[in-house]
Amino acid sequence: MIYKYHQPVLLDEVMAGLKVRAGGRYIDATVGDGGHTAEILKKGGIVLGLDRDEMAIERTRQRFETEIEKGKLTLMKSNFDKLNEIVASFAPVSSLAKFARSPARLATRSVAGRPSPIAIASGKPLAALGVASDGSSLTRKFANFANFGGAKPTDKGFDGILFDLGMSSGQIEESGRGFSFQKDEPLDMRMDPELAVTAADLVNGLGKKELFELFVKLGQVERAKAVAEAIVRGRREKPIKTTAELAGLVEKVLPRKGRLHPATKVFMALRMAVNDELGSLERALPQATELLASEGRLAVISFHEGEDRIVKRFFRENCQLEEINRKPIQAGADEVNVNPRARSAKLRIAEGAPNQSYFASWSTSTPAKSDGTGFGRNS
Ligand SMILES: C[S@@+](CC[C@H](N)C(=O)[O-])C[C@H]1O[C@@H](n2cnc3c(N)ncnc32)[C@H](O)[C@@H]1O
Repeated sequence: MIYKYHQPVLLDEVMAGLKVRAGGRYIDATVGDGGHTAEILKKGGIVLGLDRDEMAIERTRQRFETEIEKGKLTLMKSNFDKLNEIVASFAPVSSLAKFARSPARLATRSVAGRPSPIAIASGKPLAALGVASDGSSLTRKFANFANFGGAKPTDKGFDGILFDLGMSSGQIEESGRGFSFQKDEPLDMRMDPELAVTAADLVNGLGKKELFELFVKLGQVERAKAVAEAIVRGRREKPIKTTAELAGLVEKVLPRKGRLHPATKVFMALRMAVNDELGSLERALPQATELLASEGRLAVISFHEGEDRIVKRFFRENCQLEEINRKPIQAGADEVNVNPRARSAKLRIAEGAPNQSYFASWSTSTPAKSDGTGFGRNS
């Protein structure tokens, strides 16, 4: 089969929502096949693209060789819950030097209550972290990022940050990692093969009650108790190792209704648990907010109720953000006809408060005010 690129959803709405402009700096936190990134680049934007799946990064690297060479696109394999660390890794030398003089400031930048590895180590002199007092060793290490978008110490943060959550069609159809029951594959489901726990580990290792809770909380699976029981009975005979084995067990207790395969929600719940998708989003949103330039835009496309709830609440409760659309933007019939995946997409957009400034906030000596998220905006 000839591989086609993932078709980006709500493309025009995202471009308008992010107010993409020539020379603007953007983070595509879920670059995938680069569908949204391609459009930002076409409009003259400069993009930092992240994905936790090396396969996605490699495909995108090949697709945009020229733009990468010209410095218009920088790609990095990473979970987006490490946004702060990634951006810090190519921050201007003078900003790093400020950190080097005052390591305590790093400690204030913990992620949603969870100290980052850098913050944990921040009690030590930065030299112990491989950072010279002028930040030079780190800057050398990330030399290709040091001039990202021509950033200068006085520059503000990013003009737009996009999260297009979930999976790309390439991952589902081509990765061989068991994201779908359409093919019989090992029950893996790790977006990043370096993660420790696979879907097979969960299915064979969790107790009946834990499986039940996982299916209810992450998949709203009907008759979740019966599904959990069927799995536990099935694995007593032999461990469940493939997508077909799991789908077969689910089908025994959940009869097919309409077009949706009964195992769809079970697979989604397992995938979300294996990749800690809600946790990653919760940790990433405060970091993204902190990285926005004054009046920069944050756009999140979600495909899962739990994700949309997190985004909605975060946008409403964070005093650094102003919600642009109270109701999520959804795809019209025309788009859904050509791209059925767009049916469940919900786009929310928020704008960073005026005068918010990432690099500028680094250079102030006033400690950040706490807003309960572990981050705060400098007054
Ligand atoms: C829906 S696709 C993005 C498609 C992309 N917008 C395009 O047009 O090609 C979602 C991508 O996000 C990546 N992803 C999901 N969770 C992630 C996370 N926590 N950190 C980084 N990447 C993530 C997936 O690996 C996948 O490639």
